[in-house]
Amino acid sequence: MVCLGNICRSPLAEGIVRHLAADAQLDWEVASAGTGNWHVGQPADKRSIAVARSYGYDISKQRAKHFNAGMFEDFDHILVMDKNNLRDVLKLAKNDEQRNKVRLFLTEEADVTDPYFDDQLFDPVFQTIEQRAKKLVEELRDK
Ligand code: 4NP
Repeated sequence: MVCLGNICRSPLAEGIVRHLAADAQLDWEVASAGTGNWHVGQPADKRSIAVARSYGYDISKQRAKHFNAGMFEDFDHILVMDKNNLRDVLKLAKNDEQRNKVRLFLTEEADVTDPYFDDQLFDPVFQTIEQRAKKLVEELRDK
């Protein structure tokens, strides 16, 4: 799960998908990272931690990481929150096999809105991510 800062959107996606996969008894490794490195080592934004907690997910122990090319080898699927992330991640891909692992987290070319500058967006962003995460787990569980 990849976004820009790895403190708002992708930590939510990481925590939600990990939780749902565990509930479905799937042995998945789920992680998140940012295309930017400003927040490396930091916990998620307190607003993401709070909204996740209010819906029953604990993302407080996750720490921000910087997306790097090694992650193409470590993971089967790389899901990005918006088209800027898509461009930045694809720049680091070395071949079609790596490029083919990358797609938008949402379908229909839609971006997950960056909530960083608007407190009111954290709840709808959480709901969008959780709704898609449920479908994604169903989609990927048999692959
Ligand atoms: P995120 O949100 O990409 O969902 O983690 C952002 C967090 C921090 C910044 C930008 C977006 N930033 O510029 O520091």
